[in-house]
Amino acid sequence: MERIIVGITGASGSIYGKRITEVLAANSYLVDIVFSEMGKKVFEYETGMSVEEFINSLPEEQVTLFDHNDLFAPPSSGSYRTIGMIIAPCSAGTLGHIALGITDNLIHRAADVTLKEKRPLVLVFRETPLNRIHIENMLRATDAGATVLPASPGFYGKSETVEDLVNFVVERALRTLTGREFNLVKNWGE
Ligand SMILES: Cc1cc2nc3c(=O)[nH]c(=O)nc-3n(C[C@H](O)[C@H](O)[C@H](O)COP(=O)(O)O)c2cc1C
Repeated sequence: MERIIVGITGASGSIYGKRITEVLAANSYLVDIVFSEMGKKVFEYETGMSVEEFINSLPEEQVTLFDHNDLFAPPSSGSYRTIGMIIAPCSAGTLGHIALGITDNLIHRAADVTLKEKRPLVLVFRETPLNRIHIENMLRATDAGATVLPASPGFYGKSETVEDLVNFVVERALRTLTGREFNLVKNWGE
């Protein structure tokens, strides 16, 4: 089974990280999850679910939760085999750390490793409006090999629910990361 690292930070939109993890697990991926300190708090606030309840809802043999302070954990090393990493939602703060190579926690370090190993790194960035620092950091991260994929759903799919809008972003993000389709939304023209 292929392994993907999922980072969940303290930007709004925890539901994106939740859905991405669920879809990856349902599609037979191994998932390593890391919540930042604020990621955990915002997740619990926005979803009304504790991180523990969320992890317990997932298949135990496929999903591993790592402490963001544990820089000894396997995702810290390039020798640990993964096919890539996605950070969803990605805060402006975490983008800044990645863009500048400052690896204070396991999400920053794993992202830095993913870029140095030339594996796909998808940043589902969430902030609005953007300041110049955000834009410059997006350019730095993009130049280093990351894909910045704003949490900005299209409306041409005529979504009727919030879940549909979330699925729009999740499908795009996971296609970018893995190169395959997850069939969460219809393609234009179908
Ligand atoms: C309810 C809530 C919503 C937030 N939404 C955002 C957001 O959309 N984007 C963002 O960059 N920061 C947002 N923040 C601020 C981040 O949580 C904060 O900057 C934090 O330090 C980010 O750290 P992290 O990237 O390690 O999680 C939000 C904070 C709270 C409490």
